[in-house]
Amino acid sequence: MAKKVYGMFFTGTGTTEKMVTYIAKELAKELGCDYEPYDFTLPAVRKTFKEYTADDIVVLGTPVIAGRVPNLLLKYLDTIVGNGAYGIPVVLYGNRNFDDALIELRNIMEADGFHTIAGGAFVGEHSFSRTLGQGRPDEEDMAVAATFVSKIAEKVKSGNIDKEPIEVEGCTPIRPYYTPRDRNGNGIDIRKVKPKTDMSICTNCGFCAANCPLGSINPENPAEITGICMKCCKCVKLCPVQAKYFDDEGYLYHKTELEEMYGGRRAEDKIFY
Ligand SMILES: Cc1cc2nc3c(=O)[nH]c(=O)nc-3n(C[C@H](O)[C@H](O)[C@H](O)COP(=O)(O)O)c2cc1C
Repeated sequence: MAKKVYGMFFTGTGTTEKMVTYIAKELAKELGCDYEPYDFTLPAVRKTFKEYTADDIVVLGTPVIAGRVPNLLLKYLDTIVGNGAYGIPVVLYGNRNFDDALIELRNIMEADGFHTIAGGAFVGEHSFSRTLGQGRPDEEDMAVAATFVSKIAEKVKSGNIDKEPIEVEGCTPIRPYYTPRDRNGNGIDIRKVKPKTDMSICTNCGFCAANCPLGSINPENPAEITGICMKCCKCVKLCPVQAKYFDDEGYLYHKTELEEMYGGRRAEDKIFY
């Protein structure tokens, strides 16, 4: 029986944290073992190394970025050592599609030395929007997560575990990153887009600089974005006075298009066990 269940996650706006924490905590309860969170959102944490043992179960979660695992995390994810621990890849996506993110995370975990036994793609409110996937994961999503946990617990308790990696939805070979389009249907590159700060309302509280997952905001001057922005929108959505915003035309068009194309339906959670 596993000694510990870890909930290991990267999260911008908190949806991945909510889902991974729930799954890992509940699984630990069902298996009667300890639970430990491991949040690698902040850059300082990603400078340390994480190694597991064959007795551990690790629920590893990331948001879906352009249909894939966030590419800025790939180097770090490759450093995790599984040592035969059971692995459960979990991705959160913003009501569009998770494309190949789950299969990519599964492959990463297998390459790290985990044995993947289950996997799930769940819906979280889209980072860019307050309406697309609004409030998700919600009660219905958590009910799917509860079923997921029970199925995994059953599998672990029975000891009836396949030798093969868990089969999940996604393509092999993995497809290229999803590309946003402009109003004429041409691909646009929003990688260099950075948030602006309304200094007339910013109180210099330090929240955005202390919490940027890429450490890209100058603590002395929060209007200055000193490094890469992955547009996780943590600073935009969680700023206590809502001083951060995007004004890039391409980005705003992409956000509106996503809301129009995918806002009218409830995308499904998908679980594999
Ligand atoms: C740059 C970027 C790209 C994204 N790409 C996708 C995508 O391809 N499909 C999708 O459904 N959601 C996409 N999302 C939305 C997030 O996957 C989703 O909102 C997720 O719940 C965010 O997790 P978090 O709250 O833990 O940060 C994207 C978000 C960002 C920031």
